[in-house]
Amino acid sequence: MEIKTNYNEIASTYDERYEVNYLTAVEQSLLSIASENNVYKILEAGCGTGRWLKPLHKLNIKLFGLDYSIQMLKIAKDANNTEGLVNADASNFPFKSNLFDLIFCINAIHHFPDKKKFFSDAASCLNVNGLLCIYSVDPHIDKNWYVYDFFDGVYEKDLMRFPSLNETKNFCAMFDLQVEEQILVERVYNSRTGDEVFSDPFLKKNMNSQLANLTEEEYNIGIEKIKQKTTYQPDKKFITEINFYLTKASKGI
Ligand SMILES: C[S@@+](CC[C@H](N)C(=O)[O-])C[C@H]1O[C@@H](n2cnc3c(N)ncnc32)[C@H](O)[C@@H]1O
Repeated sequence: MEIKTNYNEIASTYDERYEVNYLTAVEQSLLSIASENNVYKILEAGCGTGRWLKPLHKLNIKLFGLDYSIQMLKIAKDANNTEGLVNADASNFPFKSNLFDLIFCINAIHHFPDKKKFFSDAASCLNVNGLLCIYSVDPHIDKNWYVYDFFDGVYEKDLMRFPSLNETKNFCAMFDLQVEEQILVERVYNSRTGDEVFSDPFLKKNMNSQLANLTEEEYNIGIEKIKQKTTYQPDKKFITEINFYLTKASKGI
């Protein structure tokens, strides 16, 4: 049975990832989209702890965040001081039509159980000329991450969870959302040699959904494989290359 990430369990440590990598270019991209267009009401689908809503506070616009995990939302409210939070499923929006000028989703679409329904709901809740912005990775074109080589089945599961950039385009087209651009926004790259790999914060079980979704046994088997590799090949390079892409689409008349 496929294990789903329990964000209620990992909520208290979730924001540690942003101490390691703040994803500044993603934030800049979001800020520029939110401030340059006629944007008065924004929704983040899968807002988690409010990491991306927080920098938008200074724009003085109405912000909403929707998430399935009540504990993630608690942190968004208490630590990140976000209002307008709604505990709901992103495949079943609890909003009326034509409400938002911008709906965005960062690093969350792979969790939504019915992606087609998410696009349909987002399209209907956008105002005319409103924007849908999806920031995500695409393992269909990028697989240069050592985690994929050492933890069995993780890459194959990612292929099923993450819509490719093309699929994302197709979902937009299904609901008359015109794709204006599909671009690389941020590239995270690092290389660790031998034992240094164990200082990678993203090798901890709860730092990403790929490893959090493994059983303890599956996780330990992968760690053991890495240990063996570093023993027999101390100069082995462990590469992490993660690319964040933006698909930006607008709703026509
Ligand atoms: C990797 S986190 C991303 C959170 C935030 N967007 C960020 O980038 O920090 C994925 C989020 O999606 C939420 N999520 C998962 N399934 C969901 C669903 N069906 N509807 C709404 N939110 C969901 C999780 O609770 C979690 O907060």
